[in-house]
Amino acid sequence: MKVLVLGSGGREYTFCYQLAKSPQQPQLFIAPGNAGTAQLGTNLSVSPTDFEGLKQVVLAHAIELVVVGPEVPLVEGVVDFFAADPHLAQIPMIGPSRLGAELEGSKEFAKAFMQRHNIPTAAYKSFTKETLAEGLSYLETAPPPYVLKADGLAAGKGVVILNDLSEAKAELTAMLADAKFGEASQKVVIEEFLDGIELSCFVLTDGESYQILPMAKDYKRIGEGDTGLNTGGMGAVSPVPFADDAFMQKIKDRVVEPTMRGLQSDEIPYVGFVFIGLIKVGDDPKVIEYNVRMGDPETQVVLPRIQNDLLELLQATAAGKLNEIDLQIDAQAVSTVVAVSGGYPEGYEKGKAIKGIDSADFIVHAGTTSIDGILKTNGGRVLSATGFGDNHNQAIEQSYKALSKINYEGIYYRKDIGFDL
Ligand code: AMP
Ligand code: GLY
Repeated sequence: MKVLVLGSGGREYTFCYQLAKSPQQPQLFIAPGNAGTAQLGTNLSVSPTDFEGLKQVVLAHAIELVVVGPEVPLVEGVVDFFAADPHLAQIPMIGPSRLGAELEGSKEFAKAFMQRHNIPTAAYKSFTKETLAEGLSYLETAPPPYVLKADGLAAGKGVVILNDLSEAKAELTAMLADAKFGEASQKVVIEEFLDGIELSCFVLTDGESYQILPMAKDYKRIGEGDTGLNTGGMGAVSPVPFADDAFMQKIKDRVVEPTMRGLQSDEIPYVGFVFIGLIKVGDDPKVIEYNVRMGDPETQVVLPRIQNDLLELLQATAAGKLNEIDLQIDAQAVSTVVAVSGGYPEGYEKGKAIKGIDSADFIVHAGTTSIDGILKTNGGRVLSATGFGDNHNQAIEQSYKALSKINYEGIYYRKDIGFDL
């Protein structure tokens, strides 16, 4: 079985790591991958958004299953591209259609979807350059904090939360009139602020049936105590202690079921992962956002808790037979702590030699590359250390023990992952 994984981060490394454990012994290809995936399979130097390039390698290597890691190729329609090509149409893909990917690609599309299907979320209004004046007056009537969201993909930077009215007005103007986030902020959603604790729910669907995967909590801010700029994610844990049975039942009844029924009744083709960003307000779940892929670094703590053969699970998904799978979840606690390059999420340098990786357990490669046999940093989020235990303290301790053995110039990681649990 030949499997191609698209992407190059810790999420994709983790997919490969778990796929490599399959008794089917799949041959793995990763486009473009990182220094870690090169040890688990064959890296192919093709960008996940170069669809013609992907076609060539898929045919050249006779790929039999494609797993799409990141959102950008999905939003740009990689699944539709494959479906429309007679040479590629038969190859199963894990990832939604372009239309399905709009759940992440357009905040307004997602909000309208939730409204249509009675899925609990923050109240909102959306504005364009043409209706900027209305947006500014709307802000005057709305209570702070003001939540402003660029409609399109902005690499996690498109959400701005401000307490001050004049700052909020300036931000709205910058987004709409000055195209602060380019095309992504041609439209801006202004949302009611929700006060609560966040958690993430992952659902795998074959288009008809679905399975709810382990819940996770990620730590998005760069600074300890959840302060400073937003990042792609500085760490994650699973399970989530406050997601007890009663709360999970609410998530299933009020969010997951209506989301799955909504995709079907709207005739949105969707095979793959739905990542539902939730906030617990009082005792109730509300949806903050949809993503159309797994999370990074949440994948690093979710996939290890799934005891099933991951390849079999993905094959069943592609074949529309997910209802035949008996999902087995490991009770143990899993954590991951991300080490980044100094300066991230703003400017940072690459090419720093990474030392100590061989003496550390369960290191997940993200922004790494191997140059002349020397492991070097190649991105903002460089690697993460995954820990396992009977409880979160044990798991997190293992993550930190592993990270303490690693060094590169400018290494930074949060020392407080899991502090709030
Ligand atoms: P998003 O990209 O939509 O996930 O938003 C990024 C982050 O902004 C979320 O993880 C939340 O921490 C925060 N956020 C987004 N929407 C809201 C909201 N309506 N109320 C409070 N916080 C929010
Ligand atoms: N860790 C958040 C994300 O993958 O979007």
